[in-house]
Amino acid sequence: MWEHLHPSDVWFELSEELSVKHLGRSWRKDAGFSAEVAALSKLYTQRRDAIEEAERWLRAQLGFFMLRDLPKVEPALDFLAVRGLLPRGSRWRVADLGAGCGTLSLGLARWARRHKVPCVLEVLALDRSAKALGIFEGFARETQPPGRLEKECVPIVLIKKLCDLEMEPIEALVRGREIVFAGFVLNELRAFPSLSSEARLGDRLEHAAEWVACALGAMADGGLFIAIEPALRETSRFLQRLRGLIIEKGFDVPYPCAHLGPCPLLERERDWCHAELPLKLPEPLRPIARQAGLRFEGLSHSVLVIRKGEPRPGDPLEATLVGGPIPMKGKVELHLCHAKGLTRVDWLWRDGDVPPFHRGSRVRTNRPLEGQRMRAVRDVQIGPGIALEGIKDDTFEAPP
Ligand SMILES: C[S@@+](CC[C@H](N)C(=O)[O-])C[C@H]1O[C@@H](n2cnc3c(N)ncnc32)[C@H](O)[C@@H]1O
Repeated sequence: MWEHLHPSDVWFELSEELSVKHLGRSWRKDAGFSAEVAALSKLYTQRRDAIEEAERWLRAQLGFFMLRDLPKVEPALDFLAVRGLLPRGSRWRVADLGAGCGTLSLGLARWARRHKVPCVLEVLALDRSAKALGIFEGFARETQPPGRLEKECVPIVLIKKLCDLEMEPIEALVRGREIVFAGFVLNELRAFPSLSSEARLGDRLEHAAEWVACALGAMADGGLFIAIEPALRETSRFLQRLRGLIIEKGFDVPYPCAHLGPCPLLERERDWCHAELPLKLPEPLRPIARQAGLRFEGLSHSVLVIRKGEPRPGDPLEATLVGGPIPMKGKVELHLCHAKGLTRVDWLWRDGDVPPFHRGSRVRTNRPLEGQRMRAVRDVQIGPGIALEGIKDDTFEAPP
């Protein structure tokens, strides 16, 4: 159902060529590559603060993580498009913070081409790794006619800026931009909390919220700050907390939250909010994942979209699936986050098939959810909301 989001063979070819050109080594023809992927994955999950020498890990980033992660930005874009919240002009001004090889910007370029959005992306790519920026440039060049990605991406006009994000005023870096991406980078910034202890979190979160608010302040009106992080407890809860502080500062958080109230998944330490696309790894990455001991079912991540604009109250008939679907004896359990909190909904098998919800689905109900537990069909009707199946080839009308 989501398989059309996988990168085509051209991406694998280009990734290999760029690896040889910029890093002097193939990743496809190297038996040791999976060990490198395993090592970087371990750093991501256990020692995020130790990823100092980004270039050392660039080959794993380029040959595995980027190709895996390209679709992660899609559900947020589907949602924003349907709600008319994406930029309106024909030249979208994007800043990609810690752009690396360009995963999120390239994800946007693919999405825009598939949905026939008549736009060019002007992407300011910021990173402290010159090699990563060179690789991103290699992909971006192929989006321009007669490049090999021309049919799959809208054109990217790339502006590279080699810099340390923590050494320059953020407002100067993103001024006038309509979309700012922060893909898997917020928790690499030393000044922000990542795996730091809860005790030290407060001050550093304030600092992060101030930094993001400064960025939004300098962006175009209606601008979107889109952060994606690994679906780990610490990184996800960081985004959840950031969301609360950002709402207090008067910004809108349209996605993934269906409301602007306190985040119910912060109440218990053991919960965290993340999404999971029901998508297996692309075929060519599976042997690498197998050898590296990584899973290849389900593409999980945490996401937060902040909008420069008045906070808009949530719709009481919308909710986000933040837990499940959990198949159990005789039923499937759905944990739904909505304006009044968190409700556990039981969908009994005998009441019919559960729609193909996935963690992160936005759903619609026929009446507001309430209380700790409800029963689907009998107490409340639940239907698909937005971004349920990975919207395929629709052309999105320019919003009025
Ligand atoms: C995990 S990679 C993510 C790359 C890309 N955004 C993606 O989604 O695939 C993090 C990137 O952030 C960059 N980075 C980390 N800290 C940075 C800093 N202080 N200034 C500039 N770039 C930074 C690294 O060089 C690296 O390319």
